[in-house]
Amino acid sequence: MDYREYTINKIAEAAGLEKSIITATIEIPPEQKLGDLAFPCFVLAKVLRKAPPVIAKELAEKFSADEHIAKAEAVGGYLNFFYNREDFTKNVINEVNTKKGDFGKSDIGSGKTVLVEFSSPNIAKPFHIGHLFSTAVGNSLERIYRQLGYDTVKINHLGDWGTQFGKLICAYKKWGDKEAIEKNPINELLKIYVKFHEEAEKNPELEDEAREYFKKLENGDKEETELWQHFRDLSLVEFKRVYDMLGVSFDSYAGESFYTDKMSEIVDILREKNLLVESDGAQVVDLSELNVPPCIILKSDGATIYATRDIAAALYRHRTYNFYKNIYVVGTPQALHFKQIFAVMKKAGWDWADDCVHVGFGLVKFPDKKLSTRHGDVVFLEDVLKESVQKTYDIIAENSPEMENKQEVAQKIGIGAILYTFLKNSREKDIVFSWDSMLDFEGESAPYVQYSYARGKSILRRSGECDFDGADFSAVTSDDEYALVSQLNEFGTAVADAADKNEPFYVNRYVTNLARLFNKFYNSCPILKENVAPEVKKARLAIVSATCEVIHSALGLLGIETVESM
Ligand code: ARG
Repeated sequence: MDYREYTINKIAEAAGLEKSIITATIEIPPEQKLGDLAFPCFVLAKVLRKAPPVIAKELAEKFSADEHIAKAEAVGGYLNFFYNREDFTKNVINEVNTKKGDFGKSDIGSGKTVLVEFSSPNIAKPFHIGHLFSTAVGNSLERIYRQLGYDTVKINHLGDWGTQFGKLICAYKKWGDKEAIEKNPINELLKIYVKFHEEAEKNPELEDEAREYFKKLENGDKEETELWQHFRDLSLVEFKRVYDMLGVSFDSYAGESFYTDKMSEIVDILREKNLLVESDGAQVVDLSELNVPPCIILKSDGATIYATRDIAAALYRHRTYNFYKNIYVVGTPQALHFKQIFAVMKKAGWDWADDCVHVGFGLVKFPDKKLSTRHGDVVFLEDVLKESVQKTYDIIAENSPEMENKQEVAQKIGIGAILYTFLKNSREKDIVFSWDSMLDFEGESAPYVQYSYARGKSILRRSGECDFDGADFSAVTSDDEYALVSQLNEFGTAVADAADKNEPFYVNRYVTNLARLFNKFYNSCPILKENVAPEVKKARLAIVSATCEVIHSALGLLGIETVESM
């Protein structure tokens, strides 16, 4: 039962209006006492040549209560609708408890493919905090689209190609310590890469040597290719450890190197369409009509670059997946890059360039000096994740020394706390990375939401009840109960909004509010106390069960796991 639809139909009938006008303007009132839905009659003032309050009043008079809507009330220019609380509660709670994990799913995406490219670290370099931001947002977006019925593909566009690998090979041949690299690959590779830059300042010929090595790599020479492959394999092992901790996986690791043999076609296409012009020896696409610097396609030495590889990747993805949307979750500093490549694609006549979307995000700030990545003292992300788990473990050990599976719980909460932090605000906002607020069990945090879930589960366990069929909801319609049930009903809307704006924080804010309303309900509505009538107890337990289902699903969309007790 869709109450919103039902109400919209009713208004359309009463006012003799197109449904679409009402759908576009109907809103949720800011306060519970103003009802469940409000129709602003201002939109009709012009057509009907009447003042909005008069229209609201006239419309209100046309309504009589029915089984779903208890009353329609005119307040100023608004027509406010109040659902029949018992009927609404029964419908929502039964629907959640029947559909369980499927509640809130939709099929609007059926038959359409959405690609979500995220994470995309660079091999032989540390996985940095920006990559973690991308990983959190992309992983969540993919789940959100899947919830809406889209076919999704998770792509890791690894940074595994480019002239820097000539430098790395050169450095390796001069100073590489094989054993040390096996033991601690990224650290060691980074070390020799930094050394290369220091040495090259004194001895610029090294740069030429590195260029030679890259050329050999591009030609597929055996030794260079094997070294590069080795660096890539070692890096992937490290990255996968991080992904495992986060519970993240990919459908494709087609990174930059995957497109090396697909770039000459791009150059040919652009040349054929007369889009390439020479500039300082390089081949570029002029984008001055967009007030954007030209996009370099071939450098003066004839080598392709990052942008060329991205254009090749986009064409490949179009051909392979025929995508509905191709989403790039990459930091906002690369906004210009994406603007350029999308513009080039558009100029090449590829209409589907309009379906490519750059989803940017802000910077991460560390008030905690220890975490700063500047001055060469690189923070390894794995250490940050481990630290979060350890800190969580310490909190649990102090608060619940008797808990048996502390490690497992600490893992889920510690990782959840980090993911939540990245998904808490609109993604373009900068993030302040603070342990205190991240692990504040009473604040706006993953542990707070996870705790609410565990509390609900504990009530259900203690009650021994799991069958809520035929529950009688007539006595559970207080404001706190009703606010919680209304929020449960909004799950689908939060997910749709998140996909619409590519903003997982809609789901995050939703589930945080849900947890807050649940705790309010828990404090004001006794459930297992002796003096609670059996039918009230059963109805409240049904609400608890539904709440747990939805918290679990919503956290799942953020990539955050739940724990049964904590
Ligand atoms: N590897 C790049 C970096 O670390 C991010 C790649 C973004 N994706 C893309 N298709 N360009 O900055």
